[in-house]
Amino acid sequence: MPRAMPSYRIEGGTPLRGDIRASGAKNAATKQIVASLLTDEDVILRNVPSIGDVAITIDICRALGARIEWGEPGTLHILAATIERDDVPVAFSGLNRIPVLLLGPLLHRHGRASVPLLGGDEIGARPIDFHMEALRRLGATVEIDSNGQLSAVGTRLKGMLIELPYPSVGATESVLMSSVLAEGTTVIQNAAVEPEIVDTILLLQKMGALIAVEVDRTIVVEGVSRLHGADHRMLADRIEVASFAAAAVATDGDIFIEGAEQSTIVAFLNALRRVGGEFEVRPDGIRFFRGGGRGGELRSISLETDVHPGFATDWQQPFVVLLTRANGLSVVHETVYERRFGYTNVLRDMGATIEIYNACLGGKPCRFRYGDHPHSCLVQGPTPLRGTAMDIPDLRAGFSYVIAALVASGTSTISGAQYVERGYSAIPDKITRLGGRISVE
Ligand code: EPU
Repeated sequence: MPRAMPSYRIEGGTPLRGDIRASGAKNAATKQIVASLLTDEDVILRNVPSIGDVAITIDICRALGARIEWGEPGTLHILAATIERDDVPVAFSGLNRIPVLLLGPLLHRHGRASVPLLGGDEIGARPIDFHMEALRRLGATVEIDSNGQLSAVGTRLKGMLIELPYPSVGATESVLMSSVLAEGTTVIQNAAVEPEIVDTILLLQKMGALIAVEVDRTIVVEGVSRLHGADHRMLADRIEVASFAAAAVATDGDIFIEGAEQSTIVAFLNALRRVGGEFEVRPDGIRFFRGGGRGGELRSISLETDVHPGFATDWQQPFVVLLTRANGLSVVHETVYERRFGYTNVLRDMGATIEIYNACLGGKPCRFRYGDHPHSCLVQGPTPLRGTAMDIPDLRAGFSYVIAALVASGTSTISGAQYVERGYSAIPDKITRLGGRISVE
């Protein structure tokens, strides 16, 4: 569990060097805990990260009646033999984005479901219209009230063709959770195919589901009448891996991350190499360092975030800090969220030269071309960074502040560490192990 309102104090200027182990993926763990409620048998999840979002998700599922216990480190035992409630208590309102995914499992258990207002980072409007529309197509009646409380009614859902307007991660998962026990076949077109989704499909397959991931973003789910228990080890967190990789190269250090999986970070590795970072893929993990050895120069690049297999939006913030170390003008076009550059104000206060634009500074099709969407960014580097006092606004911004503080001269104090601990496990321990000077206050 995250401590109450912790802050970090970081003395910058030390390269991060050494070995750490990748944690399990946050964005698989929380979804797989929810998927475990689709069966009344035992599910064992392994490599589960010890982070705030997992703790919240466990609390939500326990409140519904599931028995969830930690076994040996990283192992969760989940038994949802009975689910007593059909509503996620309002006490869980605004904490994360997981409750909407519970609509499917609760509908299968009770024929009705209700979940409170979603939370999550404020990085764009983050509507849930795709989720609602998809559930309606599967036969549920779905309503949302003025407080953001969502309710759904529907006994056996029916398979259907669902074309998502955009390959939304959450909407794809909503459809999976709802269609896997529906009657007949569901085809999801324009589905998201992030590695965490595919990993959750692997869990569901072990539980007895029939799901095919086909070409061109098509997922085909043949409904089955029941699911059974399973034992699943989840994939490593590719966002954590990329965050520490960016920290290694930005601080001119050298980090080996045990368990890092190349296949999940291909676009990141390409961008890292283009900027002048290097990596060595070993059988048990990946080592990250600067090309040309210590002191190697970094080059500016242009970059566009995208859905998988593109450059992930969650890699953008740590990477922008890295670009403040690169020679020349870098361009970053964020195409997944319309408002994910708010954190750059603090980097600017530290000495970075960064400008934000509403225009699309890149050629990818983008939903934010018109209107007030500050979704492109220019970074002129390198500029020295000075330590400062910072207040973390959201998870990925938080880790980018940690990297900036490690690079900067002098001391930084970073408050709001609970936001970053929602998604990264044991940050102070890992950074200390790598020789970084961090203390928790
Ligand atoms: N969107 C809609 N309508 C919907 C659903 C999504 O317009 O009904 C839009 C969103 O507003 C956004 C885009 O589609 O512009 C993509 O949103 P998506 O649904 O893919 O995001 P999500 O499921 O809410 C997950 C991760 C995010 C990650 C995104 C994109 C979890 C809990 N969160 O969010 O992770 O950035 O996918 O990959 O899985 C994080 O870990 O820090 C984080 C924010």
